[in-house]
Amino acid sequence: NWTMSGFVALEIDRIRATVGDRKVLCALSGGVDSSVVAALIHRAIGDQLTCIFVDHGLLRKGEADGVVETFSNKFHMNFIKVDASERFLSKLAGVSEPEQKRKIIGNEFIAVFDDESKKLEGIDFLAQGTIYADIIESGTVTSQTIKSHHNVGGLPEDLEFELIEPLAALFKDEVRAVGAELGLPEEIVRRQPFPGPGLGIRVLGEITEEKLEIVRESDWVLRDEIKKAGLESSIWQYFTVLPDIRSVGVTDGKRTYDYAIGVRAVNSVDGMTSDWAKIPWEVLQKISSRITTEVPQINRVLYDITSKPPSTIEWE
Ligand code: XMP
Repeated sequence: NWTMSGFVALEIDRIRATVGDRKVLCALSGGVDSSVVAALIHRAIGDQLTCIFVDHGLLRKGEADGVVETFSNKFHMNFIKVDASERFLSKLAGVSEPEQKRKIIGNEFIAVFDDESKKLEGIDFLAQGTIYADIIESGTVTSQTIKSHHNVGGLPEDLEFELIEPLAALFKDEVRAVGAELGLPEEIVRRQPFPGPGLGIRVLGEITEEKLEIVRESDWVLRDEIKKAGLESSIWQYFTVLPDIRSVGVTDGKRTYDYAIGVRAVNSVDGMTSDWAKIPWEVLQKISSRITTEVPQINRVLYDITSKPPSTIEWE
């Protein structure tokens, strides 16, 4: 794609001119925007870039390993992975109110990033994956906050760095094209939206290690079956969610009293509104039987058939 290669060449020149021989820090989440920023800046200045990846323990199965594989093993970036799951889980212990959970996760993310960046010396710039939509959205703040969004781009402005935001003029599909141009793997470039608070808002109510594991495993099965059915690129976002419900069931003639899991699949353009995705019955059947077999704590599978509005995409 000539437009994108032109953009990449131009931005590389610009980044080099701005940064000179100084150093840049980037907060990497593994999402599309921060990944593309990291790859672009790395292409421009190589080892003058350091990436910090905060693993809050609320990622999907295989996700943290995938980030390490791409940025550390494949791109050989200066890459720091912070294993902060215990820190996050202890802050979240006993907390069940959704907005409080979101705030704790957002604040803790900033605190961990701050602690790590203080260990580094001589950093002048902070690279952020701000895209055009982020700028538009922050300009049209409504009087009512439905959810306090947290994403990796949302670091506080009092960190003592100059900001570089090379994707600020791009739309999402352009960001993906730039990522592909830079050699990022399909799984990152085509990644579905994932909330900053991660699985923390897909375990409804109080978060425990066991519940995170149930969401992680059931979500893994869902993703696998969607992939096998060839539906990966035709559903905008899909995931499982664990409401705090247990119900009676029967396995091998014995009574069970286990969790129910929700399957959420939606189509949307920008996340502001959405329709529930009509996954074929046969595929749902497979998803249901595999989840109840492979995740022993689950004995019931629910399918969310609500549009946004009146619901939201995530349940918290
Ligand atoms: P809702 O649940 O508000 O979600 O209908 C709309 C879209 O936004 C994603 N989402 C988030 N993304 N930080 C993010 O970067 C967040 O805190 C956050 N909360 C929700 C959600 O997955 C959906 O795609």
